[in-house]
Amino acid sequence: MTGQKCELGLIGLGTMGQNLLMNMADSNYAVAGYDKNPEQVDKLKEATKKYDIFGAYGLKSFITVLKKPRIIVLLVPAGKIVDYVIADLIPQLENGDIIIDGGNSYFVDTDRRIEELKDTGIHFVGMGISGGAKGARKGPSMMPGGHPDTWNRVKNIFEATAAKANGEPCVAHMGNGSAGHYVKMVHNGIEYGLMELLAEAYDFMKNILGLDNDTISQTFKKWDSGRLQSFLVEITGKIFTQMDTESDQYLIDVIRDESKSKGTGKWTSQDAMDIGATVPVIDVAVVMRYLSALKPERGKASSIYNNEVQLAAKDQVSTLLDQLESALYFSFAVTYAQGMAQLKTASSEYKFNLNMESIAAIWRAGCIIRADFLEDIRKAYQENNDLENLLLDGSISNILKSEEGNMRKIVSTAITAGLPFMAFANAITYFDGYRSKRLPANLIQAQRDYFGSHTYERMDKEGKFHTEWNN
Ligand code: 6PG
Repeated sequence: MTGQKCELGLIGLGTMGQNLLMNMADSNYAVAGYDKNPEQVDKLKEATKKYDIFGAYGLKSFITVLKKPRIIVLLVPAGKIVDYVIADLIPQLENGDIIIDGGNSYFVDTDRRIEELKDTGIHFVGMGISGGAKGARKGPSMMPGGHPDTWNRVKNIFEATAAKANGEPCVAHMGNGSAGHYVKMVHNGIEYGLMELLAEAYDFMKNILGLDNDTISQTFKKWDSGRLQSFLVEITGKIFTQMDTESDQYLIDVIRDESKSKGTGKWTSQDAMDIGATVPVIDVAVVMRYLSALKPERGKASSIYNNEVQLAAKDQVSTLLDQLESALYFSFAVTYAQGMAQLKTASSEYKFNLNMESIAAIWRAGCIIRADFLEDIRKAYQENNDLENLLLDGSISNILKSEEGNMRKIVSTAITAGLPFMAFANAITYFDGYRSKRLPANLIQAQRDYFGSHTYERMDKEGKFHTEWNN
């Protein structure tokens, strides 16, 4: 291929990059791919023989085939590599060219990169992409930020390749600056929360209800066909039927109980703390991943403390299972509410100007946290984009009120039985805290003033006050 023919070029030819290029080619876009590693370019050529995709072995030839102004998507690991690739690109690019970082970059880095490129005339866009390799092939959910004019210049190709929910593309301009990567970061925070809740629901079924893998699988599958319908419940149902190829056991039973993470959940919690947003289900989901990694320590502690979980009576199993579904629905709603509330706070803190309805809309398909429930969330923000928290929405509050009793029953059963149940327990205590007109924070004010003369405020008049306590 010679001359400037391609509408878009992609750097980073892992499975995700290859799949996104094929997806774009399916929509009749001529596209090009480049990777520093020639083996990856060979793989692209091999996998995409039937497509009009140009595989470049050198950056120069890659740049040459791109139509001007150029659109270049980076799908390289987040961190320093993004900076190295940008540094290699800058001398080859011109005023008006657009670089789109499609990785899970930290939003602070994205803001820095936008700033660094400002004087070059090259536009930089941070775009979260969700859906994994399959999503990239069939249609991911995409969350671009950056300048709205830049988005308008590139949107056709992304709208054509995004997942569709009721015919609407699951991609939209999220907001200014690093808004796209921020929204993706919180998407992942919610993902952590939902995954931890599903893990705890599994633990409840296995260790309190005494259910086997087939029954656990059927239960998740049944839930997925009801109001809990979601990608994560769907795959969880499938996981429990997978057999190990190296033994005659279920695969789930040979996988070590130590979960890994790449950082987006932690960033969500860290930034929530920075801006004063409250996302405890996400916080404990991160904590539980770290706690799971302390396997040798947990082993020592289990030999000191009796960690046998109490099984429920057989005649209670069916009722408890129904209540667990209810508790999971309640907790999913709380987790989405916490993430969305963080986005709302971040929108004013960082001047992102987020459209909350649009975020819920583009998460309805293609991404990891897609769920039927996102339609309820979308409606809530359609009615009121300024809603501080989904817990204040009429329909969602009705759901929470009707599930609250079952939620309490399940959490108290788990805690009494000795099951680690951090995410569920935090969902209900967050709910209790949020709906409290009065909290014991008056005592915290008093204590701070007592030991540090930090002053306190009064109910009956404005101002700051200090008392010489007990003098
Ligand atoms: C997605 C996923 C994707 C990735 C996570 C995994 O939306 O497609 O979120 O981005 O699988 O980053 O994150 P951890 O490795 O931290 O669990």
